[in-house]
Amino acid sequence: SAGTGKYADRFGGQLALVTGAGSGIGRATALAFAEAGARVVAVDRDAESAARTAELSRLAGAPEAWAEPVDVSDEQAMEKLAQRVATQYGVVDVLVNNAGIGLSGSFLDTAPEDWKKVLDVNLWGVIHGCRLFGRQMAERGQGGHIVNTASAAAYLPSKALPAYSTSKAAVLMLSECLRAELAGRGIGVTAICPGFVNTNITSTARFAGVDAEEEKRRQKKAARLYRLREYPPEKVADAILRAVVRNEAVVPVTPEARGGRLLS
Ligand code: NAI
Repeated sequence: SAGTGKYADRFGGQLALVTGAGSGIGRATALAFAEAGARVVAVDRDAESAARTAELSRLAGAPEAWAEPVDVSDEQAMEKLAQRVATQYGVVDVLVNNAGIGLSGSFLDTAPEDWKKVLDVNLWGVIHGCRLFGRQMAERGQGGHIVNTASAAAYLPSKALPAYSTSKAAVLMLSECLRAELAGRGIGVTAICPGFVNTNITSTARFAGVDAEEEKRRQKKAARLYRLREYPPEKVADAILRAVVRNEAVVPVTPEARGGRLLS
């Protein structure tokens, strides 16, 4: 029920749109906004999991929740989504560009089409969301907030994740540029940088000849080696709500997500 959580009714009357809302961090974030009283738009390219998140959001206390099965890397589909959302649900108050895919493999073994797949979702998906919904927020003139899910990988170089890390470094920079541009209009922008979170993302790490189970084992080993703690997605969701409330710029969610080291 709404109003019982940490941010009890803090987002009452607001519209929160979360991409990649069908799983992991995105679902936890949608539910956290629902608990805080927001109306929720759950966007995911997987229609079934988006629908499930919308249903769970209503159970968690969202006055209304909708599922939108959209691929964030599809520019036209995103334009249609932005129009549909504006006419049917209203201007988005909080946008969370969270959809992302994993990709492991050495730089030299990563084919151009695999680089492209990762950049299309992790970078272009965020650009489309920022442009389309950011413009609506700016035109309305009543503020708002955009959160982009980057990663500790944005500033921890890795031999195993070159394309992924590059996409996240770009998300970090575009977030800072957009934050500067929108500051005068009362619109906040946050780059959230989680460390190691236990989700399904490794099951998308099937490019570059990488097996998902093998990748999960590899990541756990690397996490142990570098003493990365494994966090639940709810902790990231909590950091996202706090970042919106406090208008924080770059949030290293987990203590180890601070930079400097070479990962695996
Ligand atoms: P997840 O795999 O559990 O969830 C990602 C969701 O995004 C899935 O429901 C998937 O269907 C959806 N999705 C993927 N591509 C999409 C597209 N083109 N259009 C629409 N939806 C799409 O993964 P997780 O871990 O929850 O990831 C969320 C974000 O957090 C990603 O951007 C990821 O890079 C980032 N992240 C994850 C970390 C981790 O350790 N799990 C650490 C740091 C950042």
